[in-house]
Amino acid sequence: MRGRFAAACLGLALGLAACAPQPGRSDSQPQEELIVVGMSQVGAESDWRVANTESMLAVFQEENGYRLLFEDARQRQDNQIASIRKFIQQQVDYIVLMPIQETGWDSVLQEAKEAKIPVILVDRTVQVEDEELYAVHIGSDFAREGQLAVDWLKEYLDQRRQAAEEAQPSEQIPSEAAAAEPQPVQVVHLQGTLGSTAQLGRTAALEQAVQEEGWNLLAQLDGGFTRAKAYEEMREFLAQSPAGTPIDVVYCENDNEAFGAIQALEEAGYRCDAQTGVIVVSFDATRHALELCLEGKIALAVECNPLLGPLTEQAIRQLEAGEPLQRHQYVEEGYFTPQTVTPQLIQERPY
Ligand code: AHR
Repeated sequence: MRGRFAAACLGLALGLAACAPQPGRSDSQPQEELIVVGMSQVGAESDWRVANTESMLAVFQEENGYRLLFEDARQRQDNQIASIRKFIQQQVDYIVLMPIQETGWDSVLQEAKEAKIPVILVDRTVQVEDEELYAVHIGSDFAREGQLAVDWLKEYLDQRRQAAEEAQPSEQIPSEAAAAEPQPVQVVHLQGTLGSTAQLGRTAALEQAVQEEGWNLLAQLDGGFTRAKAYEEMREFLAQSPAGTPIDVVYCENDNEAFGAIQALEEAGYRCDAQTGVIVVSFDATRHALELCLEGKIALAVECNPLLGPLTEQAIRQLEAGEPLQRHQYVEEGYFTPQTVTPQLIQERPY
């Protein structure tokens, strides 16, 4: 009741016209019916993030019974913490948090708990001493996404090596062929926001594969989940590397990084091509990434589903009804390759 009662007056504090009479609204449609949700979004760094925000905004509408207080943290955890404290002061009914990174949340989530405001984590999760500090986490299983990518990569590299061996000229002297040591797979890794669940899960899978398979990690660059940063980092790396440095794989932790990396690679004369060039792996599978996948420039697009608004709303409904919730709720995700993506699929892609 706290937030709903406060909802009518919240507008004053926010400078909104919530308490003023509104056209088409009578006193018999009191604003206290609205569920007040304070939402702290990470920012707008990627196509995925924009789709995620749109999914939330579409659901948390007044006609669905919500008043949404939305804050964009512009990639800063301190902004998110300040927003949560503001939401507590405003006595919202629920706090929805897309945490930029996993650590550093114990104190502020404890404050929310003491104020009896349930916290719903969306997208990434947090590492806290007491799991009871949040009601539910709804998002992707990033470790699984990473595992899916490296499993695909191992198999694909094997196939590509075999195909290359079979294509060797038959007149090659057998002893020469035997003497040629197979070169380790050369990998460039573009990481996402360091310390975020998405980065941690996707990085862990690659690092394990590098160890187990003996791949050579040429560079581990901080792409920050953005096109611009990934482009800059990749361009600098290529400029500092000897001309023609062999690169087999570029593992990008999201689509926007892949867009920047491909641009830098092509400018430096590399060909991004799943069959015979650089194998670009990406996460999210947003529309433009699927277009590049169809062209063969992205060899693997692992899906990360941003459409989490309806699930978040459903969780609030369950909490309202006093129903128990599973603490971690993961969404179903697949992957695409140039062989499986189609123009129709791209056209129908909602993000
Ligand atoms: O946490 C989800 C990740 O964050 C997405 O892969 C990325 O695009 C976003 O910015």
